[in-house]
Amino acid sequence: MFVTFEGSDGSGKTTQIQMLENYLLNEGQSVLVTREPGGTKIGERIRKVLLDMAHKQMHARTETILFNAARTQLVEQVIRPALLENIFVLCDRFADSTVAYQGYGRKQNIVELERLIEFATGGLRPDLTVYLDLSPEEGLRRKLADHLNRLDVQGLSFYRRVEAGYHQLIEQDPQRWTVIDASRSRDQIHLDIVRALQQKLPALAPN
Ligand code: TYD
Repeated sequence: MFVTFEGSDGSGKTTQIQMLENYLLNEGQSVLVTREPGGTKIGERIRKVLLDMAHKQMHARTETILFNAARTQLVEQVIRPALLENIFVLCDRFADSTVAYQGYGRKQNIVELERLIEFATGGLRPDLTVYLDLSPEEGLRRKLADHLNRLDVQGLSFYRRVEAGYHQLIEQDPQRWTVIDASRSRDQIHLDIVRALQQKLPALAPN
């Protein structure tokens, strides 16, 4: 089972992934946690190039291609082999981030992006995508208290477009997504995520 986590910066994805990993381990599942961009040696090097504050000149298409180069490596080296062994894969961001950030945020052509993503992933799609729904204002407020990277220093209008992009994606494929109100406590959010997973995979539900 391949589960991805999406949402605005500062929406608490990392915390929730850790909590879900612990839950699944307790249920006796094998779990692999990974993230984008990164998750492989090559991918982590690409991540450094993408996030480097000195790379102010990076063109939007360069950025898009680099995210997808890191993605190919992650899919082929880590995710696909794990899924073949029936390991639960939890991934912090995946292809939807490219559509939301590079497509809606940076206004790249969505149809072209979809073709690039298909090429990069070899057609691999998540079974479930958790969207941690938090207003761009609140996400930015939380992020500003944190260490900033090149991709964080966008205006509010950029993050509003990203949010609208996610809502479009959810509307197009509601079966794959579960939308979670991320303004609540971490325990409440965790419970909702577990419930969504149990619906997808009844074997996990308590008798
Ligand atoms: P990161 O520090 O991991 O942020 P977060 O904790 O919010 O996930 O940085 C990842 C950044 O990269 C984040 O701002 C979203 C962005 N991103 C894209 O723009 N496109 C993509 O395809 C991916 C995977 C991430």
